[in-house]
Amino acid sequence: MGKRFKVSWLCVLCVVLALVSVATIVTLWTIAFTGGKGGDVTAPWDRYRLPTALIPEFYNITLWPRLMPNPNSSLYIFTGWSTVQFECREATDLILIHSNKLNYTEMKDGHLVRLTAGGAESAPIIKSVWLQLETQYLVIQLRSKLTSGQKYQLYTEFTGELADDLAGFYRSEYEEDGGRKIVATSQMHPTHARKTFPCFDEPAMKAVFHITLLHPPGTIALSNGMETGSAAITIDGQALLQTRFEETKKMSTYLLAIIVSDYAHLNTTQGNIQIRIWARRKTIEQGQGNYALNVTGPILDFFQSYYDISYPLRKSDQIALPDFYFGAMENWGLVTYRETNLLYDPETSSNSNKETTATIIAHELAHMWFGNLVTLRWWNEVWLNEGFASYVSYLGADFAEPDWNVKDLIVLDDVHKVFAVDALASSHPLTSEEDSITLPGQIMEQFDTISYSKGAAVLRMLSDFLSESVFRQGLSSYLRDFSYANTNGSSLWNHLQMAVKDNNVALPDQVDAIMNPWVLQMGFPVVTIDTSTGKVSQKHFLLDPESNITVQSPYRYEWVIPVRWMKDGDICEDIWWLMEKEALNVDMRTGPSWVLANINVTGYYRVNYDLGNWERLFSQLSTDHQAIPLINRAQLVDDAFNLAR
Ligand SMILES: *[C@@H]1O[C@H](CO)[C@@H](O)[C@H](O)[C@H]1NC(C)=O
Ligand SMILES: *[C@@H]1O[C@H](CO)[C@@H](O)[C@H](O)[C@H]1NC(C)=O
Ligand SMILES: *[C@@H]1O[C@H](CO)[C@@H](O)[C@H](O)[C@H]1NC(C)=O
Ligand SMILES: *[C@@H]1O[C@H](CO)[C@@H](O)[C@H](O)[C@H]1NC(C)=O
Ligand SMILES: *[C@@H]1O[C@H](CO)[C@@H](O)[C@H](O)[C@H]1NC(C)=O
Ligand SMILES: *[C@@H]1O[C@H](CO)[C@@H](O)[C@H](O)[C@H]1NC(C)=O
Ligand SMILES: *[C@@H]1O[C@H](CO)[C@@H](O)[C@H](O)[C@H]1NC(C)=O
Ligand SMILES: *[C@@H]1O[C@H](CO)[C@@H](O)[C@H](O)[C@H]1NC(C)=O
Ligand SMILES: [Zn+2]
Repeated sequence: MGKRFKVSWLCVLCVVLALVSVATIVTLWTIAFTGGKGGDVTAPWDRYRLPTALIPEFYNITLWPRLMPNPNSSLYIFTGWSTVQFECREATDLILIHSNKLNYTEMKDGHLVRLTAGGAESAPIIKSVWLQLETQYLVIQLRSKLTSGQKYQLYTEFTGELADDLAGFYRSEYEEDGGRKIVATSQMHPTHARKTFPCFDEPAMKAVFHITLLHPPGTIALSNGMETGSAAITIDGQALLQTRFEETKKMSTYLLAIIVSDYAHLNTTQGNIQIRIWARRKTIEQGQGNYALNVTGPILDFFQSYYDISYPLRKSDQIALPDFYFGAMENWGLVTYRETNLLYDPETSSNSNKETTATIIAHELAHMWFGNLVTLRWWNEVWLNEGFASYVSYLGADFAEPDWNVKDLIVLDDVHKVFAVDALASSHPLTSEEDSITLPGQIMEQFDTISYSKGAAVLRMLSDFLSESVFRQGLSSYLRDFSYANTNGSSLWNHLQMAVKDNNVALPDQVDAIMNPWVLQMGFPVVTIDTSTGKVSQKHFLLDPESNITVQSPYRYEWVIPVRWMKDGDICEDIWWLMEKEALNVDMRTGPSWVLANINVTGYYRVNYDLGNWERLFSQLSTDHQAIPLINRAQLVDDAFNLAR
């Protein structure tokens, strides 16, 4: 998902406050509710995580959004019907499937669902079906057990509201030619697919999706797969188009996208990938999609060679929406954006808009492999997905626009930005305990600046100390090994470790041992170099040194720190590792010249020096500032002010 932080701090603050309040309310409410329920607390339908007895294989889904309000209720609605085929892995008489805010139509036998079995065997009789509102399940109790190894299909018909709430299948509106137009669009991530159709709505429950959309003639229907054909049909006297789509790859529910609009598009091809940019007709006529069309092909090519894996799909659609919650969303094959993030108007947009467009497109396209092809098992490691895409978005944008020096901006836009947050005693580690993230509100809280920006910063540090080629080798073998499957951060460390071994990279420890202190404890160090003694030490950097840290860390707020440094104007080729609280590096003792550490701020830490060295650096800056690398000049200013504070 694309970060939204660039838009406005105030707006971010409001959203954060709103999320925190929602999470608090949900938590209190849950406590109050489960508290009153006594012995039932542990019933499977009261737990927020799905059992693993049933594994989905594919869904056949037909959806029909109404682009006019229902005259009786004045609600905008959609109707749908869906079959999910799943395999039973463990005999059970209970089917739990996510469902939120959907109304079900009764089948002939009076139940809300129909269950059939794959082979000759017949499916168990349904005992009862109900909606469990708090945990967002459709619960189906059976009279006998499903058989392990057997496949079953669950069929439902349902109605939902096509609300303007930016979640699930929702409604976006705009004015064109004096009239109001409706787009039916979707945001399934992270837990809204269940608001569109009943599904096993967890990222590890990957399946294949066969999508069919019913829509008014003259509108266009889009989904993850390419359209395979449209047929004119009539339902209840209404003339409709029935558009089918190529089946998706095996993927997570949160990556699904469905859109009905009367948009226009631009198209091109890159190799055998079809690229289309969709937006309101007026904006396409005005050429506002041209820039996105120009950079998408080169960025896709960049990532195909960066990952050394070809783009997994045949087409890449990107669409600009008038109402959109996040900055953008990496639905596989149909990426959705806020209009301002995809469209660029040479007449009125600023250079900064153009830079945002290039980096956000690169961020979302990076996810087509890292995140979509290979997906983290659970939301407690969101940082790896988002931090990674944020880091490589600079590489992709740099490839598309080589004269912008866009890679340098990561230091200002991510590293220095997140230092401000991560220097507080109230910060948190990148990775959370899996069990601590279960409520939808807790999942949403994971998408913060720590995940995006600190994630990007520590992965950039990792790529730097391994070298980019070793980092890419490990990454590529990780993506190949877990294609169409789910995994966790330790698997990435393992693959990087294999690449380290393959290339005989000298490291002071295993990759996971080096990374754990950065990932599993909050904050970052300030490295202090005393050039009179050669003593180098580290300390947890806190904006308020008096603040009390109440969270114990197994790493005692110490880190394994790669130090790239300069002496007498020359860059020392080798990284020097600060492995403990205090160490002696006699090389860092100086005579008349200065020492500068953390070259290009590739390390996620601040640096302080003895007064003498600060003065020598200042005098260098006032005589010939070019001797100090550009990024380090920004570092000296930012570190000096923050150390002073
Ligand atoms: C699901 O859709 C696919 C593709 O249209 C079709 O081949 C298959 O028979 C359908 N299966 C079910 C159970 O509806
Ligand atoms: C509105 O209500 C009338 C009367 O109950 C019904 O005949 C009609 O089908 C309803 N219209 C829609 C679009 O649901
Ligand atoms: C679902 O049912 C509830 C209760 O009958 C009703 O208030 C709501 O409007 C229905 N939603 C839709 C989209 O039909
Ligand atoms: C763009 O789409 C049109 C119509 O679908 C098609 O004829 C044309 O070949 C496409 N152009 C490219 C470059 O793919
Ligand atoms: C897109 O590329 C074309 C051809 O290179 C160029 O003429 C045009 O100015 C570019 N458009 C934008 C908005 O960069
Ligand atoms: C990651 O996955 C591996 C292999 O499945 C497992 O052994 C390990 O415990 C997992 N680590 C975490 C932090 O969940
Ligand atoms: C930290 O704890 C000490 C002792 O409990 C207390 O005196 C001090 O005010 C606390 N500092 C802050 C910033 O809360
Ligand atoms: C530091 O970054 C600059 C770009 O700002 C780059 O040219 C230079 O090679 C980098 N230095 C090192 C040691 O990586
Ligand atoms: Zn993202």
